[in-house]
Amino acid sequence: MRKIIIDTDTGSDDAIALLMALSEKDTEVLALTTVFGNVNLAQATRNALISCEVAGVNVPVYPGMDRPLVRERIEAIHVHGNDGLGDAGVLGPKSKAENKHAVTALIDIIAKHDDIELITLGPLTNVALAMRKAPEVLKRLKKIICMGGAQLGYAAETEVAEFNILADPEAAKIVFEFGIPLVMVPLELCLNGDGRKGAETMLDEQDLNAIKAMGTHKAEFLLKIVSSLLKFHEIYYGDVGLELPDPCAVAVALRPELILNAYSANVTIDTSGSLSYGQTVVNTKGGTVLEDQIYSANVSIVSAIDGKGFKAMIQEALQ
Ligand code: RIB
Ligand code: CA
Repeated sequence: MRKIIIDTDTGSDDAIALLMALSEKDTEVLALTTVFGNVNLAQATRNALISCEVAGVNVPVYPGMDRPLVRERIEAIHVHGNDGLGDAGVLGPKSKAENKHAVTALIDIIAKHDDIELITLGPLTNVALAMRKAPEVLKRLKKIICMGGAQLGYAAETEVAEFNILADPEAAKIVFEFGIPLVMVPLELCLNGDGRKGAETMLDEQDLNAIKAMGTHKAEFLLKIVSSLLKFHEIYYGDVGLELPDPCAVAVALRPELILNAYSANVTIDTSGSLSYGQTVVNTKGGTVLEDQIYSANVSIVSAIDGKGFKAMIQEALQ
């Protein structure tokens, strides 16, 4: 049985990722921890509780940090809507979040269970603070699967920085340099190789019609909450398409057999505050022309997953 914790800034793609994780057989979701990001902390927490109710699974939700370590808070309501779920009038939740802070919950749960895999779907502020507060405990994690980062030119927020990293570069630097196995699921995995639409993992009109035909409560929820994402895609590409970065991270974490290509690299985060602030700087070369340059890979970057298998996983989660 795989044991996971998911840290999320619960926007619409996070919510789909949560439905996938909560319905995955032989996977136990021990907890959700929420963080500011797409929307503010209160809304991210509300959306996480709603997602658990839609999934029909009772999982403790621990609210975490409401702002980044150093920089000012940014958000992505222009992508996910003001409520983070497409402003589609999703009601709820009936359930309540836990009183314990996410950072404390991460430490307590990881101290108690062996071999936990941590999936991060938002800014890394909670995780970085848990690492600072209890490094020996966080080193017990089996691995971290992080939706975050992008290669040069693929990023969305700036040409070089993807949202989850840009929202708290200092936290990302702590997490990427912490030293436990980290699998990076970059933004380009849900975009085609050069940022164009049409990635194998992008849901097209046919995929959306197939989901509509399912007629289940979860399928209707998905179609409701992606309205903002669809609008955003249409502005960029002028047609129907749905890029789902967080579901890609959950697919990589829970069905690694879907990974078609991954490579080791040394990844550092630019925290200089200059134009490249929040860039994931990828070095795969080891030494270059510089003599005796020290090189050690700290990250495995996933660069391709099986689109068909990914879409099948989403459909299974919506049954
Ligand atoms: O850049 C994509 C990431 O930023 C996703 O996690 C999305 O939910 C937003 O948090
Ligand atoms: Ca997210």
